[in-house]
Amino acid sequence: MKAVILAGGEGTRLRPLTTVVNKHLLPVYNKPVIVYAIDKMVHFGIREVMIVSTPTAVPLFKALFKSEKRCRISFGVQPQPKGIAHGLLVAKKFIGKDNFLLWLGDGIVEDDISRHIHSFETGAKVFIKRVVDPERFGVATIDRKHHVLEIEEKPVQPKSHYAVTGIYLYDNTVFQKMKRQPMSKRGEYEITYVNNKYIEEGTLKAVFLKKKWFDIGTFESLYHATRYIRAKEQRGLQVQ
Ligand code: DAU
Repeated sequence: MKAVILAGGEGTRLRPLTTVVNKHLLPVYNKPVIVYAIDKMVHFGIREVMIVSTPTAVPLFKALFKSEKRCRISFGVQPQPKGIAHGLLVAKKFIGKDNFLLWLGDGIVEDDISRHIHSFETGAKVFIKRVVDPERFGVATIDRKHHVLEIEEKPVQPKSHYAVTGIYLYDNTVFQKMKRQPMSKRGEYEITYVNNKYIEEGTLKAVFLKKKWFDIGTFESLYHATRYIRAKEQRGLQVQ
């Protein structure tokens, strides 16, 4: 399976840290955020990865990974931060006719989802986590049998505490579902729109993460991730 890591965007919530440094190059304890993503791909046994980012950050990622031997990394440029679905479109040619893993590069995930990756065949699979601040995320409404009925992007009044994390498995129909996609009110092509298309079709499945998940989008989450990983490293446990 191939993987696309999105590492663009402006990181506005982390300014001034991100005024001149791409969010995915910020350190979380002893590694830049993006290295956690690549380590995870290696752990999953993924050999072909595309990192999509901004025109200014792509050369920096190339420099960072110039000696990376564990997987083949290619790079895609998203000229403007017009949303996650828009960034994914940059990787269309790289993906070709395959299924793939989409990974938002600002996430650090502790669960091992290898078996879901290797058994994935059709439709879409999203990974969900119970959070205390769902309004920051795509929020899934779930029935008693754990079926996802709807996903709302950053709702003011969330219908659940289940955040859709930045890990998605898609089959190749994803690009058809992006055709004629409207821009959202916040001016982005949302991945939530695409996921709702899979829900309408009845082909979206959800997996509940049980361990830690950090979305390095705020000072607080950056701090908590750093603290957590430092504590684990000091106990001799590695977090990928
Ligand atoms: O963290 C999970 C959340 O990620 C989901 O629950 C939401 O449904 C999803 O929309 C997204 O929300 P965020 O507001 O956290 O997205 P953010 O703008 O922080 O971007 C997420 C990642 O995607 C980050 O690694 C940067 C990258 N990105 C983002 C945009 C807007 C791009 O590569 N290009 C872009 O144009």
